[in-house]
Amino acid sequence: LRTAATATTAWTLARFGDPVARLLRAPWRDNPYPIYERIRAQGPLVRSKLGLWTVPGRETCDAILRDHRFGVRTSDGRQGDPQAAAAGLQLSLLELDPPDHTRLRRLAAPAFRPRKLAQYREHIEKITHELLDAAVERGSFDLIHDLATPLPVRVISELLGLPAVGAEQLAHHGAVLGGSLDGIRSARQLHRMRRSAADLETMFAELIEQRRADPGTDIVSDLVAGLDGERLSSGELVQLCTLLLVAGFETTVNLIGNGTLALLEHPEQWDRLRENPDLAEAVVEETLRWDPPVQATVRIAHEPVEVAGRTLSRDSLVLVLLAAAGRDPATHSAPEHFDITRGDTEHLAFSSGIHYCLGAPLARLEAEVAFRALATRLPGLHRAGTVSRRPTTIIHGLSALPVGTDKG
Ligand code: HEM
Repeated sequence: LRTAATATTAWTLARFGDPVARLLRAPWRDNPYPIYERIRAQGPLVRSKLGLWTVPGRETCDAILRDHRFGVRTSDGRQGDPQAAAAGLQLSLLELDPPDHTRLRRLAAPAFRPRKLAQYREHIEKITHELLDAAVERGSFDLIHDLATPLPVRVISELLGLPAVGAEQLAHHGAVLGGSLDGIRSARQLHRMRRSAADLETMFAELIEQRRADPGTDIVSDLVAGLDGERLSSGELVQLCTLLLVAGFETTVNLIGNGTLALLEHPEQWDRLRENPDLAEAVVEETLRWDPPVQATVRIAHEPVEVAGRTLSRDSLVLVLLAAAGRDPATHSAPEHFDITRGDTEHLAFSSGIHYCLGAPLARLEAEVAFRALATRLPGLHRAGTVSRRPTTIIHGLSALPVGTDKG
């Protein structure tokens, strides 16, 4: 997940004819992987005509993401793109450089420790089975609509302690805000984005006030309480909650969707999982490597930096191709093969360095529970209709995956 800010900048370059940025847009959106290979063939760091640097290799991507000379704002601290600010969407940690990022991350991190999240396993299993019960009764269902979307939406709403806000409504806000990561292309889209951002702001401002007055056991109560006497301001809390909500399901939906599609398109892999459901964790990692929900992120050089023998000037914009890094032949054997028993699954799907995904343990847990449940409960799972893809580039996933539950 990258901010609308920097993704919009890449889109703006595409609009002005930048060849590299244009490659990342339709018609390559459904299968961008051949394009990544074309970029890779040009070297570890490719500069396009309008000055966008693109990085396809795992080692260089990782080095840039860990390098403190790169940030997410321009060197004078401005947000990467004024369009995002105009839309009123503030994505908290994702839009901050140190020291602001360091302070906020320290306060937010305890709520997402793997040990803390492990407590939710049973509850996540319960929600998954409830959703599958309802779907199975119908015989055929849409995996995205009936499982991959409602599971993470319900989990994150409950973790945040959101009152009974409809899952459909939250999914709508997520789709509006997630879609805008590719850039804002019309006044109508800007308007919808502003409305969603404003609705979420109102919802969280009320929730935060309530938790101040009457704390519970949810994440928002933990965040309101602060750490070692240090507290977040109301504005910081609202932005962080918005990020957690949107990041909490917009991406996980696609991990479950992309992984299930990969399994159904590779029946020998599906058979392996059916025979040994403990491979569910491996399915999660292989999906993150092979077809990750977040394809790229952007960094800005805060000073002149030498990378892979090239010198990047101050404020250079770098497109870090997380998805290409997972298919780097220098680090993975037969990278184009989806293989849940491979050993070399290292990936950058959750980024690296200081912005490494805070919700990674939660996303992994939800997807593992979902893949395990599908394999144990629905061994005859198969595609039963046309798959549709989301019309976005940065967020990569499906909008529909019709499935049947019985081969007979
Ligand atoms: C950051 C991916 C699920 C919360 C990130 C970043 C990526 C990412 C690539 C870093 C972007 C960058 O470096 O510019 C994913 C994927 C997910 C997922 C692929 C699911 C498969 C979640 C969940 C949550 C979450 C479930 C929370 C409930 C966050 C937060 C950040 C973040 C708060 C910002 C961290 C920071 O800037 O310090 N995620 N994410 N993510 N993610 Fe996730």
